[in-house]
Amino acid sequence: MHVAVVVGSLREGSFSRKVANALAERAPSGLGCRFVEIGELPHYNEDLDSSAPPAWTRFRDEIRACAAVLFVTPEYNRSIPGVLKNAIDVGSRPQGQSVWAGLPTAVVSVTPYALGAFGANHALRQTFVFLDMPAMQQPEAYIAKAGELFDADGQLASDSTSDFFVGFMKAFQAWVGRFASTESRAFDDFMRERTRIAEAYVNGETAPLDMIVVRSDPASFFSPRGDHQEGAAEVAARYDADARSFAPPATSELEVLQTGASGELAFWSGLQHAQARLGGAKPREMTLRVTEVFRFEDGGWKLAHRHADQMKA
Ligand code: FNR
Repeated sequence: MHVAVVVGSLREGSFSRKVANALAERAPSGLGCRFVEIGELPHYNEDLDSSAPPAWTRFRDEIRACAAVLFVTPEYNRSIPGVLKNAIDVGSRPQGQSVWAGLPTAVVSVTPYALGAFGANHALRQTFVFLDMPAMQQPEAYIAKAGELFDADGQLASDSTSDFFVGFMKAFQAWVGRFASTESRAFDDFMRERTRIAEAYVNGETAPLDMIVVRSDPASFFSPRGDHQEGAAEVAARYDADARSFAPPATSELEVLQTGASGELAFWSGLQHAQARLGGAKPREMTLRVTEVFRFEDGGWKLAHRHADQMKA
């Protein structure tokens, strides 16, 4: 998923841009940040709607290509800088063709002073109501004393600020995920992919399953051997090792007995019928009783829990 990052300051040494860079560097792997520049946008003028300046079209296209937008802005006179308001107005027109409608968003306001640019933060939020942009409410980010945040190399000087930025971007990713398209969330479609991935797995292919395992805790795997693994990194490593013990050719089918998806969670429960070879052994028929739980993360369904055991004859 790509997020447009819009910075409300044009100043070369802008604190807001430094904060935006620090946030982008700390975005989770599934959230790609693209800076969209606003300094060259001619002032919005309705008379130009019929033949839009190329800079307007470029800006609108860049925003349309993104799944969300993150605003990082200073405060000017207790409100947002004119250049940012202009960009918002340009994106909102022609009437009925707003690039903002429905786009999830978040605001980080920045000031070298003490009040955290609260006025700018909330003036911007006021536009979201009319623009129909779902804005992340928590955590709020009012970055005060921005002049003291960075060391001589331009890096964040304190771990607590860095941790806050990491947490903010993680929360934003979850927020954006809620608005991901219905198609990408359709669990039935995903289960067809899961079936193919299960077959690749028993043929010794590690990569397809690795693409759909969660990267964050909690994660668990209860194996048919009777042991279990906990933690995202440990579970991913275990899947990888187990897949390598299989050799092609092998087949696998999932017999889904129950399935459901609600919000950020989905599951299926049923049987896995496989004909697979472990190491150099002869192909063996096996039927596993399986329950898998998925979390919606990084714009897709990710395997968070698997419990499989051998069905007794
Ligand atoms: C400011 N500044 C400012 N700061 C603030 O906290 N509240 C305010 O209302 C204002 N008003 C204001 C108006 C104008 C026209 C200017 C130029 C500046 C100070 C502002 O926070 C400071 O210049 C920041 O460094 C601007 O952000 P960048 O450019 O560093 O991102």
